[in-house]
Amino acid sequence: MKNFFSPRPWRPVLAVTATISVCATSLAQLGPPPGPPGPPTAPAPVVNTIAGFGAPLPGLTRPQIEAFNAGLAEFVAVETPEGGLGPIFNGRSCVECHSAGAVGGASNVLVTRFGRTVDGQFDPLESQGGSLLQRFAINPQLRETIPHEANVIAQRQSTPLFGLGLIEAIPDSAILANALAVKADGVKGRAAIVTDITTGQPRVGRLGWKAQQATLLAFSADAYLNEMGITNRFFPKENAPNGNEELLARFKTTPDPEDEIDPATGKGDIDVAADFMRFLAPPPRATITPQAAAGESLFLQSGCAVCHTPALRTGPNPVAALDRKTVNLYSDLLLHDMGTLNDGIAQADAGTREMKTPPLWGLRASAPYLHDGRATTVDAAIRAHDGEGAPSRERYLRLPNALRQQLLAFLGTL
Ligand code: HEC
Ligand code: HEC
Repeated sequence: MKNFFSPRPWRPVLAVTATISVCATSLAQLGPPPGPPGPPTAPAPVVNTIAGFGAPLPGLTRPQIEAFNAGLAEFVAVETPEGGLGPIFNGRSCVECHSAGAVGGASNVLVTRFGRTVDGQFDPLESQGGSLLQRFAINPQLRETIPHEANVIAQRQSTPLFGLGLIEAIPDSAILANALAVKADGVKGRAAIVTDITTGQPRVGRLGWKAQQATLLAFSADAYLNEMGITNRFFPKENAPNGNEELLARFKTTPDPEDEIDPATGKGDIDVAADFMRFLAPPPRATITPQAAAGESLFLQSGCAVCHTPALRTGPNPVAALDRKTVNLYSDLLLHDMGTLNDGIAQADAGTREMKTPPLWGLRASAPYLHDGRATTVDAAIRAHDGEGAPSRERYLRLPNALRQQLLAFLGTL
């Protein structure tokens, strides 16, 4: 199924070195990935390691550390066509798009979504391979293109995965209660209700720019299919290039589901990768200088915390490291109408104008910013706030420059 990494104690630098060399080999074998847009050859991931990022959660048991390590190996494993990669895909490994700060971080890799909006009704053009474009293929004939009918094309930036186990462990009720609370500045905020494909149950979505998934296993299964073309027990059907089933059948050689359950562990790759993300520690706080400490009050006074909720709490959890913990995520995990700052794509429960408040923890390792990476600085990201975020943006803009710098210094410590 994949390159094999033997279990080892947690040594991030070694894992990273292995990734880079393995990816380079695999890319060379596959040749230039076809399909616009994108560079003629996909870059091998460069993991910019920042001290303290990418560690396992404190307080994990030995078996949990082992699951974290096995998941880390899976997360950096490079998939091949023989192992199920493609026929159409966006990346060959998870780390290819999640590498900033440490394995599991953000990256500046963008994926493309498209659709068609007529009279305010969004159509993801599913029969033509939408809304996610797979820009690479194992054979040039399979290349996906953006259909002519599409009148909405949006880019989405890869997000960091640090601390997601804690975010997953926040009870739906806590997010729903926050949604009901009356907020300053006329801010609303709505919990996304999604169907968790792993249980079939309605849940409060909290992962992704649109809060489109509630659980790490569901996101993992979705990413295996939609980013790498690896079918699994939750998504057993391969994506047909621009919806062309006949073309798919001609090039499809591997039986579905491609992700097999290992009888020894009872887990598939999707479960193992989910374990890594679940046990990945949140980003460590940077040193809080007096300037940053002053910036924290400005953050609160400017109304940022109305959406970027400084802390939520996990519920009772069988994993002690996730059990009733404070989560300093700086997000309410709710959907907001952001006015002009939207991506025009409706997905899961989120409408075209709605975006989920992204957590601000780890901001110093996740540039560029906003869903499409349009902001190269945190300052530019704040200035782009609109809709429900406009009153707060105005307050930020009215701050004297020295105070704005304090607020930015605070954000740089998260
Ligand atoms: C081609 C790039 C690419 C690859 C490969 C990729 N991802 Fe992602 N990932 C993204 C992007 C872009 C997003 C933001 C998606 C969105 O919300 O639309 C994302 C978001 C996520 C999220 C949600 C994070 C959050 O902040 O809520 C998870 C979880 C995730 N990816 C896991 C994985 C796993 C596991 C793999 C490997 C199976 C993987 N990704 C492979 C680009 C990628
Ligand atoms: C109404 C809710 C709301 C308020 C108020 C708000 N934000 Fe945001 N913020 C969001 C949403 C939603 C996004 C994501 C928008 C997008 O990318 O489309 C975001 C994005 C950001 C980002 C970029 C994060 C990233 O990972 O790309 C930063 C930085 C940020 N906000 C800081 C602030 C600051 C500072 C304030 C106060 C001046 C503030 N926000 C007020 C909802 C809000």
